[in-house]
Amino acid sequence: MFSPTQRSLWTPAAPHIWAINATGSAAEDYVSVIRTLLDQPRWLEAQYLYDEHGSHLFEEICELPEYYLTRTENSILAECADQVISAAPVECIVELGSGTSKKTAHLLRQQIKQRGRGIFAPIDVSLSSLEASRDLISEEFPELTFNGLCARYEEGMSGVDKTVPKLFVFLGSTIGNFNRSEFSIFFRRLSQSMGPKDFLLLGVDRVKDTPLLEKAYDDSRGVTAEFILNVFRHVNRRLGSDFDRAKMRYHSWYNPQWQQIEMYAISTAAQEIHFPSFDTSFVWEENDRILVEISRKFEPRRLQSQLQFFGLKSVGHFTDPREWFSVLLFRKSQI
Ligand code: AVJ
Repeated sequence: MFSPTQRSLWTPAAPHIWAINATGSAAEDYVSVIRTLLDQPRWLEAQYLYDEHGSHLFEEICELPEYYLTRTENSILAECADQVISAAPVECIVELGSGTSKKTAHLLRQQIKQRGRGIFAPIDVSLSSLEASRDLISEEFPELTFNGLCARYEEGMSGVDKTVPKLFVFLGSTIGNFNRSEFSIFFRRLSQSMGPKDFLLLGVDRVKDTPLLEKAYDDSRGVTAEFILNVFRHVNRRLGSDFDRAKMRYHSWYNPQWQQIEMYAISTAAQEIHFPSFDTSFVWEENDRILVEISRKFEPRRLQSQLQFFGLKSVGHFTDPREWFSVLLFRKSQI
């Protein structure tokens, strides 16, 4: 499953799970966090939301009555999996940011039904999620070969063999976490990692009425606020910094011009944030804000047309009766 040049970079991390040797060094974390803290507005990469507690809180968000995304996408996948798998004659399904792969089971079930076998290669930075996915998937689908990749998306994508026909799966509207420049970098890398017979299945949340969108990101139980503010605990643990979470409050709104939910932490009092490896600090005044996460909303037709720039040709569009969410199928094309 690995491309020949990549094979030596991966080492076993757990049964049926491989990790790339280079991931997650403290120096790399520093560069990525300092870069985004020095930007204006200050922001953080979405990956820092997902420590163990953060992953758990996100699972809780998916069950909230206000958070329609997971349920809606799941119902679309249950409906369209049959058509997607018959349209994409592949041997391997590569899932980016898989979590525990619950929604992907619809596709795997069809792969087994239609072809009797296949490889499932989920890519995730969280080893515990991959282990959960492995246990769930190998129990339900003993015919599948499970090859988990513990890595960032880019590392995992370029690790897989281009000659094996593959379906890349990127669900949950996770693509909406990327800002405009990260979006382009991501699709260029993905397209470069795809072989000539490969497909992409992309789940995206759609532009819709503002109140519906805003409620999904500001639930009455405050789980989303907890999820966003947890980022500081994780960054402090990874980098030894001292963000004072008790002096942060959550604020979110839908920015209609940029078609994105913006999730901020706002400092409720002045604070000075130290990074122990450096003899310097960031000074935050009261009301200073940091953009912890964005969640872009999409117009499927526009997205289909933009992705042509990255060598992706639209070959399928599945949606729910209310047209709240879309699952889009693309094929790799020559640019
Ligand atoms: C996992 C990126 C799809 O943007 O809807 C949910 C994350 N953040 N509530 C989203 C999230 C706050 C979620 N994604």
